[in-house]
Amino acid sequence: MVYTSFIGRSLIEPGDFSLEEMEILFSLAEKIENDENYLRESCRGKLLAALFFEPSTRTRLSFEAAMLRLGGTCLGFAEPGSSSAAKGESLADTIRTAACYADAIVMRNPKEGSALLAKQFSSVPVINAGDGGHHHPTQTLTDLLTIRRLLGKIDTMTIGFCGDLKFGRTVHSLVKALARYANIKMLFISPKELVIPQYIKNNLIKQGIVFEERENLEKSMSEIDVLYMTRVQRERFFNEDDYIRLKDTYVLNSEKMTFAKEKMLVLHPLPRVNEISIEVDNDPRAAYFKQAKYGMYARMALLALILGVSC
Ligand code: NCD
Repeated sequence: MVYTSFIGRSLIEPGDFSLEEMEILFSLAEKIENDENYLRESCRGKLLAALFFEPSTRTRLSFEAAMLRLGGTCLGFAEPGSSSAAKGESLADTIRTAACYADAIVMRNPKEGSALLAKQFSSVPVINAGDGGHHHPTQTLTDLLTIRRLLGKIDTMTIGFCGDLKFGRTVHSLVKALARYANIKMLFISPKELVIPQYIKNNLIKQGIVFEERENLEKSMSEIDVLYMTRVQRERFFNEDDYIRLKDTYVLNSEKMTFAKEKMLVLHPLPRVNEISIEVDNDPRAAYFKQAKYGMYARMALLALILGVSC
């Protein structure tokens, strides 16, 4: 069947799809995971333009892998210096041009709000792969799919967000998305300088979501069902000294893991710098590389749905 409500839609913020639509997308991603030949070649002849104005490994590669596995093709740039942006072209003009060649556009850009602007100038769907410190909705699809697959549910849990909650767009998007599920408690663990933005807290208060702000990770460990670790976002700091002072505030290691629940999940959008010691990688609760793989399934499902594939 063709899910017509998805066709031609853009994804700019995590709330753009309804909860029912999210369920359709997750079920489809699980079907693809269980049968990697499912939907293979379903996007033959379709083109995805990947416009990356900021560095990326997983997001760009998983989108490319997703499109290629669906039988489609990718074009674009991974380095804005090689595009006409370097000659001073406006984002609006770059987007109008890419929309002439491709059936969908995925874009990462350092400016907050750039994805929304791109959508306004595009005749094809735009997928936000990160707009500055604002949102990263396809990472959220990845995170929710991982939680759903590994915990068997998305509701009724305590999630601890740890690290750079001020600039971390993956955190901002996941908080917004999780606020729509029942019985979610959020613990925001960060240094004072990197607390979660006030507008996000105001929205949570309005929605009656239970949350607490803390500074100590170790003391919070035993309460957490999903621990979402993040990197301190060096590229969004105004001065290097502050970054150096704050970058190693939290390091999750085997010793801290001894305080965690037996079934706790450790997630991280990656890349990690120092915030998770490599000794944790072998802990069965470490799920961040599985999460990277679920990202590809989530993006395959997303592309298939917005391109109108029969699923
Ligand atoms: C994240 C991002 O770009 O916001 N990476 C990703 O897409 N998996 C997280 C980060 O860079 O810290």
